Amino acid sequence: MSATAVHTASVPLPPARGPLSAAVREVLLGGTAPRVSPGDADPLGEDLQLALYLAYEPHYRSLSGVAGEREWDPALLGLRQPLEQAFLAALRAAVPAGEDGAGGDPAALVAAAVDPLLVEPVDGHGVSHRLVSDGDWRMMREYLAHRSVYQLKESDPQAWLIPRLEGRAKAALVAVAFDEFGGGRAERVHARLFAELMAGAGLDPAYNRYLELVPATALATVNVMSLFGLHRRLRGAAAGNFAVIEITSPPGARRMARALERLGAGERCTRFFTEHIEADAVHEQVMRREVLGGLIAGEPELAPDVAFGVRATVWLDDRWAEAVLAAWDAGRTSLLAPLPSPPARLPEG
Ligand SMILES: [Fe+2]
Ligand SMILES: [Fe+2]
Repeated sequence: MSATAVHTASVPLPPARGPLSAAVREVLLGGTAPRVSPGDADPLGEDLQLALYLAYEPHYRSLSGVAGEREWDPALLGLRQPLEQAFLAALRAAVPAGEDGAGGDPAALVAAAVDPLLVEPVDGHGVSHRLVSDGDWRMMREYLAHRSVYQLKESDPQAWLIPRLEGRAKAALVAVAFDEFGGGRAERVHARLFAELMAGAGLDPAYNRYLELVPATALATVNVMSLFGLHRRLRGAAAGNFAVIEITSPPGARRMARALERLGAGERCTRFFTEHIEADAVHEQVMRREVLGGLIAGEPELAPDVAFGVRATVWLDDRWAEAVLAAWDAGRTSLLAPLPSPPARLPEG
């Protein structure tokens, strides 16, 4: 496997999309925060979601032009809190509480949210279905650019959960995380495999390279992980979020590997997905039985939040998928602007 430049800090912050993201950008770059509040800004809109994404980023990586001190700068945290409140309120309003029919049984309440995910619809029509049936390289690269905002930091947001769990749930979560982070081998870290996939598909795998093109629908799917992960009181929702990722991964990964093979991509590209087909079949079981089961056994009062985390994740993923498919159906780019042209010789690897 060839070496790939990963996690470089050279990509400048993307342009603002409105007053909220302009204010966060300003503080990150060492300026004084203008007085802004979400007010009636769309909590799922471009400006607020980019602002929130940028406000979380110092927790993950060094950013070009951003001093390390900004991570705990009260000015940044002061801007972030009302954005988080607006986002969380929007999610709570969008997602049904789902407590009916569970009879107050915590396990039944969680199962009511999780069990529908275990059944693959016969007539599935998600983004991976579309890519496997008639995707081309332009669509595939767009998909990878969308996913890059999470996948290049894969499982980092879920790592915040470790100190927030105990006993069975903690032990099982760390077992899953061990695989996500390469099982002790740097070249098998899933984020690294995704960088290889991007490079093989003619994309630049530099961290946040495509952030400026990625729409709010995709940013929200990452922001929800940071929101749940960085607040201990939301640990039930964070566990629900992680469970959805692991449960829905194997069938999607199988389709993505097929879609890449159909486009003539080699092992450098398909490995990220083939790795996930088997690993996540095990992770799915561990997440459900041990992480969610262990968490609810120890703290049954968290069951409604676990169910909320599951439903909010599915709701945001579906919103993103609908927007991508609608753009492709209309012959438009699903990003905010088309990707730069790839190198002429493809596929690689
Ligand atoms: Fe993974
Ligand atoms: Fe996994």
